[in-house]
Amino acid sequence: MMTLFEAAGLCKHFSGVYAVNDVGFTVEKGSTVAVIGPNGAGKTTLINLVTGVTRPDAGSIQFNGHDITGAPLHRLAAKGLSRSFQHPRIFRNMTVLDNVMVAAQQHHPVGMLSAGLKLRRARAREAAAAEAGRRALRQVNLECDPDLPANLLTTGQDKLLELARLLVAEPVMLFLDEPAAGLDDHETADLTRRIRAINESGITIALVEHNMQLVMDLADSITVIDSGRIIAQGPPADVRADPAVIAAYLGSGTELTGAVDV
Ligand SMILES: Nc1ncnc2c1ncn2[C@@H]1O[C@H](COP(=O)(O)OP(=O)(O)OP(=O)(O)O)[C@@H](O)[C@H]1O
Ligand SMILES: [Mg+2]
Repeated sequence: MMTLFEAAGLCKHFSGVYAVNDVGFTVEKGSTVAVIGPNGAGKTTLINLVTGVTRPDAGSIQFNGHDITGAPLHRLAAKGLSRSFQHPRIFRNMTVLDNVMVAAQQHHPVGMLSAGLKLRRARAREAAAAEAGRRALRQVNLECDPDLPANLLTTGQDKLLELARLLVAEPVMLFLDEPAAGLDDHETADLTRRIRAINESGITIALVEHNMQLVMDLADSITVIDSGRIIAQGPPADVRADPAVIAAYLGSGTELTGAVDV
């Protein structure tokens, strides 16, 4: 086993209130980990800290043998660490395929070349981006016409399109913020299979999620946070039986049910 990602002692406060308070976790290469916790626990703040969206007040982050503390998201993406957002960032006025192609072209920019060469290269890159885009759409099993305008997609399809946009950048590791939010049970089960397949293709995954079924089905290790602090950490079976976790979820409206895949 090799540790691919390690965050230690992360802190972030907003006007004196700690959203994240001394949180750390490690992710083994090839595994799937989850961060769970009640509403407002600090999950999105944590994902923002580890993906260069928000700078931590304290703590350190290592990825693939490099210290990436404070590095911005676009630099991390170039190193193979990408993320999804709680609300998918999709270009609604473009087609489904164009959305993925834009992401593919950002990954392989044409760069500074002479005009003629640039045009030829740009055409070749466009063809390559279209091919990469179609491959990514197949990988997430987004079953719709790729030439459909993206504003016609359902919430479930939005999530798959966002995943496809991430996959064309050939990430080493993905952070997913509530991938199942807004999905029905059928869509969640399908997404669970997609995420598992992506993980089995070799991509390490860390996700924040309220859907316990998805978390219990996918995660090798779970970190539970409440009011910015870790209250439990370990394998799913241990975490769901932990009295502190059960207490944190009592009255939160989230059921701690779900099959444990062992
Ligand atoms: N930019 C900000 N400015 C001020 N307070 C913030 C900011 N971002 C988050 N917070 C506060 O930090 C705490 C943690 O918020 P965060 O969004 O990280 O929680 P969460 O676990 O993702 O919640 P949810 O399950 O609702 O998505 C909350 O009290 C929130 O109000
Ligand atoms: Mg959140």
